[in-house]
Amino acid sequence: MKTAIFYGSSLGNTQFVAEKLHQRLPHADCLQVNELMPSQIEQYDNIILGTSTWGVGNLQDDFELFVDLLLSLDMSGKNFALFGLGDQHTYPDTFCNGMGKLYYLLNDKGWHVTGFTSIDGYDFSESEAVIDDQFVGLALDEDNEPDLTDSRLDGWTASLNF
Ligand SMILES: Cc1cc2nc3c(=O)[nH]c(=O)nc-3n(C[C@H](O)[C@H](O)[C@H](O)COP(=O)(O)O)c2cc1C
Repeated sequence: MKTAIFYGSSLGNTQFVAEKLHQRLPHADCLQVNELMPSQIEQYDNIILGTSTWGVGNLQDDFELFVDLLLSLDMSGKNFALFGLGDQHTYPDTFCNGMGKLYYLLNDKGWHVTGFTSIDGYDFSESEAVIDDQFVGLALDEDNEPDLTDSRLDGWTASLNF
């Protein structure tokens, strides 16, 4: 089974976290979404997508183009997992919405998304990344809780089986 970490990062936070994730999944390939060709995307069985949230609840810029490419491919039968970076104190009503937007795009295609996590321990009001009191992936906050990122990544990667 081939695993990839694909990320988009405007100021480097998501890239920093993607590299930490890569250390925990050294068999995976780790690439920025704006570097990818269709043939590169299709070769993987397990795909982890990492986006930050920009504007008020939008996907990171590089993802806006990447999702059009991804959704044009047949990715049925693949396993997806999501991680999202946000700032729960400055943007408590749109915390990690970018991750939520990704989830709904994949889910509308009927593609399999795994790696949901508990919202316990976070401090925000609303998020499109929450369904039935769970995040649709791993939510991380390098702006306010960088000290929790390593332990959150440890628990999540152990649960993923990628
Ligand atoms: C202008 C601006 C808008 C943002 N909007 C949101 C938002 O709506 N929701 C959120 O959770 N975080 C938001 N953030 C926080 C970023 O997602 C966060 O800083 C993230 O770590 C950036 O990661 P990157 O450097 O990989 O792009 C915003 C940050 C800025 C500067």
